[in-house]
Amino acid sequence: MAVETTTNRAGDALAESLDQGYTLPGAWYTDPDVFARERDHIFRRAWQYVGLAEQVTRPGDFFTVRLGAVPVVVLRDEQGALRAFVNVCRHRGSELVLAERGQRATLQCHYHAWTYNLDGSLRAAPGMKDEPGFDRAAFPLISLPVETWGPFIFVNPDRHAAPLASVLGELPALVAATGLDLAGLKRRVRRTYEIAANWKAVVDNYLECYHCPVAHPSFCDLIDVNDYVVTEYDHFSTQTGALKASAVAGKSNHHPYDTSGGVREGFYAYLWPNFTINIYPGPGNVSLNLFLPLAVDRTLAVYDYCFADAVSDEQVRDFVTFIDQVQEEDIVLCESVQRGLGSGYFQRGKLMLSRERGLRHFQRLVLRHLR
Ligand code: FES
Ligand SMILES: [Fe+2]
Repeated sequence: MAVETTTNRAGDALAESLDQGYTLPGAWYTDPDVFARERDHIFRRAWQYVGLAEQVTRPGDFFTVRLGAVPVVVLRDEQGALRAFVNVCRHRGSELVLAERGQRATLQCHYHAWTYNLDGSLRAAPGMKDEPGFDRAAFPLISLPVETWGPFIFVNPDRHAAPLASVLGELPALVAATGLDLAGLKRRVRRTYEIAANWKAVVDNYLECYHCPVAHPSFCDLIDVNDYVVTEYDHFSTQTGALKASAVAGKSNHHPYDTSGGVREGFYAYLWPNFTINIYPGPGNVSLNLFLPLAVDRTLAVYDYCFADAVSDEQVRDFVTFIDQVQEEDIVLCESVQRGLGSGYFQRGKLMLSRERGLRHFQRLVLRHLR
């Protein structure tokens, strides 16, 4: 299957069928060769959300992430600059930092103690000064492009990547137009969910609300899913849905959390390849979803919930409980899709384009990057 995707003619036929509303082949969600191609052609080349600026405020603060197959350490250096390095030691290729987060004056490899400064230069390599011809300066950590949009940090494993702005496009302006003050938000909760499904099945599911009336009763009490607008841009798409009149009046059956204040309309943006920004009606909030491909049939969803300081702990708890329930409902859907696609009896699906256009937009991007 992977070989077929590389031929122009097969790619043209696929692109045409996506135009007609057919889905990507089911095998693209189960074939390890396709997954390997995605690691190289998508996750090795795309700008990817890695975390929040508040995680690295002081010199020496760091956290580690993995972008496809590339381990990365993100840190604040002594001059206060944000830096990202390939988290691989130049001595023998071990992962350098194993901790998920912390604060250190230097980065010391856990294998033979080669030690790097926060600017990536090699500071010490025990015993190596006696090694003929060894030049410390020739072995710095490999630095990667790192940029921020408001509090969000993005890294690209491609050292020659175009600037982040080239993929964000109008997205920052659209988020600003919701009235949300991103700078005033802090992370209050992080949840992770391991899902037994291909990362594309998880993104597909995020990108349509055709399933909402069937699968998410509490969400549908809140948001008018019949008045749901999907808009496609180059590298992202947005979904907007108004608060239901009954929810505004506080009359819905299950009023899941306090929706008064600030933002009136739900705004959900998907950014290529694996990041979403969700602003729910109510007091200042944004929840960030990151879908990390672990294996062809396994995805780690990392959810960061950020709120304005004025939002009480009780409001945060109710909100997270609400989203958690929607997420648990979605996990059942994604895992059942993965089992269905793995049956060998599913070739191409057919989208309902009036509701699932965002999904086609995503699948076109996948095809564009794998060709
Ligand atoms: S692999 Fe890092 S010091 Fe040897
Ligand atoms: Fe859902």
